[in-house]
Amino acid sequence: MPARTTLPLPWLDRAGRLSALKLLCFLLVLAPGLYLAQGYARDALGAKPVTALIHATGEWAVRLLLATLAVSPLRRIADWPRLINLRRMLGLSALAYALAHLVLYVVDQNYDLAKVASEIALRIYLTVGFVALAGLVALGWTSTDGAIRRMGPAWHRLHRLSYPIAALGLLHYFLQSKIDVTDPVFWTGLFVLLMGWRLMHRLSAPTRPWSLLLLALGSALLTALLEAAWYGLKSGVPAGLVLGANLDFSGPIRPAWWVLGVGLLLPLVNALRGRPEARRTGPRPAPGLVPARAMPQKP
Ligand code: HEM
Repeated sequence: MPARTTLPLPWLDRAGRLSALKLLCFLLVLAPGLYLAQGYARDALGAKPVTALIHATGEWAVRLLLATLAVSPLRRIADWPRLINLRRMLGLSALAYALAHLVLYVVDQNYDLAKVASEIALRIYLTVGFVALAGLVALGWTSTDGAIRRMGPAWHRLHRLSYPIAALGLLHYFLQSKIDVTDPVFWTGLFVLLMGWRLMHRLSAPTRPWSLLLLALGSALLTALLEAAWYGLKSGVPAGLVLGANLDFSGPIRPAWWVLGVGLLLPLVNALRGRPEARRTGPRPAPGLVPARAMPQKP
């Protein structure tokens, strides 16, 4: 009798049982897509619905990519190992939104594939987006258990590319912005926070509330500097003016403060849920899209 194959339903755990955590995650990643689809169907997305969809799907691709990268830090900071089971779903959702983003761009160009290709080749922000998308496709393609087993240690090297891919996605976000870069600065600030945690971890710094507090402060400062540098280089606005805007609370709160707010949740969560970390016991989880159990061990 042929072996029975089960569909890899996203809400089931590896033993085939319903996982409430995975089901919740699945519904959450699906929700923006459904919301946008109903907005389109009800003609509620403004005068240029396809453009609105291009923007929204691009934003969700970035958010979900960062959420994927946040899984490893959060599982340690909150001492919540089961979080790793969400990483592949989050990564594949980022890929799905990014692919929808490209398809919508093709629709926007009246399905003229030659024009799409030439625009991607000629406009630097589209070239950057294309490289990021190609990288995401490579990670998604190799995220099956079979690919992980076949690739062995090369899988680790490939999936470490998730960080530069996220950086390219963020650069694409900056480059396509006209004047106001508040949103890309905020998401890049969160990326800085994640990279900072990775650096701390690599240097074997302990995951403790005080170290996470320093990480939050440093990331917020770097976010403010990044914002000042971008406006300075792009529009010649003096850095002092942009930095000063961070202390002016009569207008919109600058992204560095939002990054600080998110960053401060980390020491709080760690104080409430974390436990004194045993320094690197067991194999280190690889970056990328896949649950730890499916991964090959390093030789
Ligand atoms: C072939 C690949 C891609 C193409 C052709 C493309 C195309 C575009 C276009 C046309 C825009 C709108 C620009 C404007 O209105 O002036 C845009 C914005 C954006 N894209 Fe992409 N993109 C690609 C890949 C990606 C990837 C891989 C990501 C994320 C990982 C991404 C994230 C974004 C974001 C966040 C925005 C800005 C949304 C906003 O301002 O609200 N894009 N992209």
